[in-house]
Amino acid sequence: GMGDAVPGLPLAFHGTIIHSFSSKELAIQENSLLVVANDGRIQLLLNDVDPDQVKNILAKEGYTPDAFPVKYLQRGQFLIPGFIDTHNHAPQWAQRGVGQGKVLMDWLNDITFPHEARFEDPAYARQMYGACVRGGLRQGITTASYYGSQDCHASKILAEVCFELGQRAYVGKCNMNQNAPDWYRDQSAEESIRQTKDFITHVRSVDPQASLVTPILTPRFAISCDRDVLSGLGDIARENPDLPIQTHFDEAEQEIRLTKELFPEFENEADLYEHFGLLGKRSILAHCIFLDDYQMGRVKALECGVSHCPISTAIIGPFMAAPIREYLRRGIKVGLGTDNGGGFSSSILDVIRLAFVISNARQEISNGRDPVLTIQEIFFLATLGGAQVCCLDEKIGNFTVGKEFDALEIHTLNPDGIMTPVQSEDSTAMIFEKFIMSGDDRNIAKVFVRGRSVKA
Ligand code: GUN
Ligand code: FE
Repeated sequence: GMGDAVPGLPLAFHGTIIHSFSSKELAIQENSLLVVANDGRIQLLLNDVDPDQVKNILAKEGYTPDAFPVKYLQRGQFLIPGFIDTHNHAPQWAQRGVGQGKVLMDWLNDITFPHEARFEDPAYARQMYGACVRGGLRQGITTASYYGSQDCHASKILAEVCFELGQRAYVGKCNMNQNAPDWYRDQSAEESIRQTKDFITHVRSVDPQASLVTPILTPRFAISCDRDVLSGLGDIARENPDLPIQTHFDEAEQEIRLTKELFPEFENEADLYEHFGLLGKRSILAHCIFLDDYQMGRVKALECGVSHCPISTAIIGPFMAAPIREYLRRGIKVGLGTDNGGGFSSSILDVIRLAFVISNARQEISNGRDPVLTIQEIFFLATLGGAQVCCLDEKIGNFTVGKEFDALEIHTLNPDGIMTPVQSEDSTAMIFEKFIMSGDDRNIAKVFVRGRSVKA
C-alpha cells in the first residue's frame, strides 16, 4: 500500500534534474538535492546545493545522513520524469512493423485480429505481456495506458504482470462485439458488459490500493461496439466516476465514414461518444486527427485528453498529421502514445522524434498557422502532459515535492570519456537535446516507479 516501505528507500540524489512545469516551462536544475522517502514520494528538493554540503544539509533537514545512500550524478548524467505512454496495445507487442501502409480496417482484419486472438491462450498471454511490460520499462515507460485483447482472462493476466513488474498502468479488457470475426469478438453485448464488470473487480483485487494498476473502460471504437455495449459501458462509467475510459477517436477517414454509416443518428464522434456517457475528464482519446471547431470545443469543454500517436498515424494508410499546436492553443490536454502495434516502435523517444517531424509537416500543411512544436514542448507531452491526460498529474509527471518518484536516470557519457555525439564542451541543455533526439535505451541507466528500481 501507499505507506509501506519499498526496498531500497529512502534514497537521495545530487546532481542535474530536468523536468517540465508546463508546455512552456522546462526546468534544468543543476546541483539539485532530491530525497525520496520510504513511501516512494519526493520529500525534499533543493537547488544549487554544493556537493560537499549534502551531508550537512541532510542532517539539518532531520535525516540521518550516514544511513542514507546518496547517489552523486556526474557530468552527462541527469534525472528526468518517467515517460508516460498514453496509448499502447499490449497484445500487439509482437506484431510491430508488420503491415506498414495498409489502410486501417485491412490492417485490423488481416494482421491485428488474428494476432490478438492468440491471447486466449493464458500461457502465451503471460509470456507476451511479460515481454511487453519489461520492454516498456527498459525504455523508460513508467506509466502506460494499455488496451488488452478481447479476452477477459488474458487482460487480467496483463494487470497482474504490470503489478508484479512494478509498472504503473491502466489496463482495459477490449470491448468489441461487432465488425470482427466470429472467432475474435465478444459473443454478445451482455457478455461484453458482464466480462468488463468481472475484469474491473479482478484488477481492483490485484492492487486494492490502486497504488500502480487501475482498470480502464476500453471500447475499441464505435465500429467494434453496438449500441448496447456502448450504453452498458456508459452505465459503468456513471456508477464509477473514477474509472478512466479510452477509445480511438477520429483516427482515419475510412473509420469516420464507416462510423457514420453504422451510427447515422450522430453528426460526429464527439456527439456519439458523449451520447453514450463515454466522454469526460477521464477519457483518453487516441489520435484525434480530424476534429473541426465544434468537436474541439466539445473535447475541451468535457476536459477529455488527447493521446497523440504520430508513428501510427504517419504510416497506417494515408499520412495524417494531428493539429497538436491548435490543441495546445485551446488548452486541451495532450500526451504521447506509442500505439504499440500500429506504431512500429515501442519507444517514447521515437514517438518524440516523430511528433517533431509531424509537427514540422503540420506547419507546412497549415501554411504556418500551426508553428512547429519545440523539443521542450514535446518533452512536456511525454511526461507531465501525459500525466494530465491520465488525470495522474497530482501524483506524477515532474519532480514536485509530494509526488511519487517515477524517474529515469540518464547517462550520456561512458566511463572512458565521450560517447558520440556528446562532446565535453556541451552545455547541459545541449546534452539533454542530444539525448532526446539521438539517444536510446542504452542511455537509460535506471528506471524508478514509486521510488522502486524496476529496470531489469
Ligand atoms: N482502431 C481500432 N483498433 C485499433 C488498433 O488496434 N490500432 C489502431 N491504431 N487503431 C485502431
Ligand atoms: Fe491504437
